[in-house]
Amino acid sequence: MNALAAGFDTGNDDVFARIAQAIERHGYAIVDGGVPEATVDALFVQLTALADDAMARAAVGRDDVHQLNRFVRTDDTCWLDGDTPATRGFLGWMECLRLGINRHLYLGLFDYEAHFARYAPGAFYRRHVDAFGDLQRNRVLSTVLYLNPTWRPGDGGEMVLYAPGEGGAAVETVQPLYGRLAVFLSERFPHEVLTTRTTRFSIAGWFRVNGSVDGQIDPPR
Ligand code: OGA
Ligand code: MN
Repeated sequence: MNALAAGFDTGNDDVFARIAQAIERHGYAIVDGGVPEATVDALFVQLTALADDAMARAAVGRDDVHQLNRFVRTDDTCWLDGDTPATRGFLGWMECLRLGINRHLYLGLFDYEAHFARYAPGAFYRRHVDAFGDLQRNRVLSTVLYLNPTWRPGDGGEMVLYAPGEGGAAVETVQPLYGRLAVFLSERFPHEVLTTRTTRFSIAGWFRVNGSVDGQIDPPR
């Protein structure tokens, strides 16, 4: 166990084993109550208090091909640092998940990056794959934690997971319920966020393998 993972009882890794097993069988897992409630509550408080100028219009792609494409996605995002108890707790839990998945599935997950996301009423994120082309191939496993305490059917903002391939049918519609965590293989599942009618909060993150080439350290984002 390393420092980030300290404080969680990895001896009793029931939830981590359950997630690993679901990923092995289906390629994805939807889990309620996995991330500790106190951490979820603290994240919600921090996210809803973030000032507008801390949130940036989300871009598509990374680095030099970073583009703002408001036809593809219209959420606002803010990268997560482990500089508050809430984000430390969350990243610590994710570190346990990383270790648990590596132990069960040998995916060689190397690090994790995540951002808060706020979808204003009318916002969406069209069908896409998180690991595309050569650019984000090192994204192996995607996670989304939902932070919407009053979400009800009719509010929209569900995440739809599709079967692999271009015309793949919907395999799962995930309601963005408070404390719910979705984990799925990044390359396997195209997905989209349906237009939301209410402000919708989530934390999207990605476990990556080490993409360093020729001794050049792979930048985290
Ligand atoms: C993403 C994403 C899904 C969601 O940020 O890449 O697909 O439900 N988010 O917020
Ligand atoms: Mn995505």
